[in-house]
Amino acid sequence: MLSVRHLIDTTSLTADDITQILDTAQSFAEINARKGIKKVPALRGRTIVNLFLEPSTRTRSSFELAEKRLSADTLNMGGSTSSVVKGESLADTIQTIDAMNVDMFVVRARFAGTPQKVTENTDAIVINAGDGKHQHPTQAMLDLFTIREHFGHLDGLKVAIVGDLAHSRVCGSLAPALKTMGAEVTLVAPPTFQVGDPSWYGCSQTNHLDDMIEDMDVVYMLRVQLERMEGAAIPSRREYNRLYGLSLEREARMKPDAIICHPGPMNRGMEIDAEVADCARSRILDQVTAGVATRMAEMYLLLGGEHNGISD
Ligand code: CP
Repeated sequence: MLSVRHLIDTTSLTADDITQILDTAQSFAEINARKGIKKVPALRGRTIVNLFLEPSTRTRSSFELAEKRLSADTLNMGGSTSSVVKGESLADTIQTIDAMNVDMFVVRARFAGTPQKVTENTDAIVINAGDGKHQHPTQAMLDLFTIREHFGHLDGLKVAIVGDLAHSRVCGSLAPALKTMGAEVTLVAPPTFQVGDPSWYGCSQTNHLDDMIEDMDVVYMLRVQLERMEGAAIPSRREYNRLYGLSLEREARMKPDAIICHPGPMNRGMEIDAEVADCARSRILDQVTAGVATRMAEMYLLLGGEHNGISD
């Protein structure tokens, strides 16, 4: 059992919680890798509502696939197709769906704090699928799974999270989770993209990518969130790419066993060059694959499953 009732942020997760999620995901990854039937009855009879109030490709599709593979019943709702467009409040929408006795809400929202607000209007369990600039805990779990798959462990690894830290819910959830698991995290960004207090994340912070890239086990590139930017935080795409982009030249200076991650969607040619995104070190598509297994694990454990209770 996890120590939390809802999955809202990674700062509430213990090392034991994270280990349970990753170990359970390992079992689901083996089921997902089968050539034949990839479905288990683990959540048969459970109802899960996917409430996506902001666009998503990876998170939405992997949650839907994960729910189908767990045999759950699902209801998909978007902002533009619900009565929110007619002026209904979020609280009324949640209470209305809650009255139909559902078991779980998966919530993606533009505004930080929306998943927490959902917990206040339902008895169902809530998973945060990304809220504004706040948190994206299920992204962090798939990232940890991918990194652990490569190295066999997380403790002692040196991880650089590079780019638009200021607007990043991915950084806000990944950095604390890595620290909880014993990794050493360095945040790298131009001054306009840095976080105010890196010690809150348990990290150091620098604006010199070239000084440290050779020492890193994992280089985790963040998307420049052009849609969340107010004013001109960077001079140009080309200048950003020159100073902070992961080019083939920088990739060649990484340790032989080091890997590259990116949460997607990517701005190819800006924070990461196209050849680097597709190179042998890149784990970007492995991250996508891990997203289905880790989300299966999170839903299964939050709805009362045990790691050793998975069977056909
Ligand atoms: N990484 C991520 O959250 O991608 P989507 O916005 O496509 O879900």
